Amino acid sequence: MNLLRIIAALLAGLSGKFLAHGAVGEGDPHGLDEPSPESLEASPLPYREIISWLRSSGAVIPPSPEVHSVTTLYNREAIVPPQCYTKTQAFSNPCYVCHQAPVAGRENVMNDMDLQEAYSFSEPGMRNHWENLFEDRTGRIAGISDAGILDYISQDNYSELPGRLKAANFHGWIPDLRNLQLAAAAFNEEGFATDGSQWLAFSYKPFPSTFWPTNGSTDDVMIRLPERFRTDGSGRESADIYKANLAILEANIKGLEKIGCLPVDEAALGRDLDGDGRMGIIRRIADVRSYVGAAKGEFLGRHLYPAGTEFLHTVRYVAISDSGEIVPSVRMKEVRYMRK
Ligand code: HEC
Repeated sequence: MNLLRIIAALLAGLSGKFLAHGAVGEGDPHGLDEPSPESLEASPLPYREIISWLRSSGAVIPPSPEVHSVTTLYNREAIVPPQCYTKTQAFSNPCYVCHQAPVAGRENVMNDMDLQEAYSFSEPGMRNHWENLFEDRTGRIAGISDAGILDYISQDNYSELPGRLKAANFHGWIPDLRNLQLAAAAFNEEGFATDGSQWLAFSYKPFPSTFWPTNGSTDDVMIRLPERFRTDGSGRESADIYKANLAILEANIKGLEKIGCLPVDEAALGRDLDGDGRMGIIRRIADVRSYVGAAKGEFLGRHLYPAGTEFLHTVRYVAISDSGEIVPSVRMKEVRYMRK
């Protein structure tokens, strides 16, 4: 790649328009990061076809065309998210969030802090392929009334999802947390799902991202540990064992030697977890080097979740409650699930 190209790329990267940091730039004379009308025309057809199918399809499993998927590939650098093309105006640095130096003893060994400024994209990566982000939605937004959008985001599109997925013979995970659309009301005061599904809602540190309420989104996160972390040696469910293991895991994820916990009855675990020399109800665990119950002896790595850990995560609209508080909407934008 020649020097001019690199400079052009840098200029394009600094001049403007996309994402959080406000001011609209001068426009981009080099065409490196905004799709030109010609590039849209020249896009391979199968991809166009898929987009239009997706736009019109009401199916819960997206349709796929009768061609080999290689020919439908539109963005060969789809692993590069739109955030990488943020115009930083030599002022804002959203890049540090993802491109970082390694920390000894931690799992992130990418060591790509240089990408905060290098702009070393591959040839296809030089162009921002996320065309949907360049659509001017002003007109469409103007056509939506406040009452209309409030009505839309208060509709429940979650409760029917499991049934639709099953009817479509979906082989992946089927949502199994009842009433999650009601957000906090689906959980007890300790954060456990009231439906017995063993999901636990937890709080987390805010971190720069695109789900901020200022961007019209909010979200939640739930964790569920595999059965062996919730049962005793003879396979009986135990809330004490589950709570102790969740706290032990949290300590290890955070790199702590001891941690506060939900009330746990040590007698149910047969281990003096707070180290005070007797069995009682504890709110603090000082022995975080191994799990308890059926998971006793299970591999426990610092900063690592155990195999089989599940996460559930919904992205919501920002809604307003009857009493005027900001709350997650009933309607979900996305339901995300992950299992280690
Ligand atoms: C939300 C996380 C995230 C943010 C924020 C982010 N990046 Fe990235 N970036 C990625 C991921 C994921 C990839 C693809 C995997 C990889 O190559 O590291 C990537 C790839 C890249 C690449 C290509 C690297 C290669 O080897 O091909 C460059 C260059 C880059 N990012 C620059 C930036 C710049 C500059 C910023 C800030 C303006 C930025 N990124 C912000 C996640 C992010």
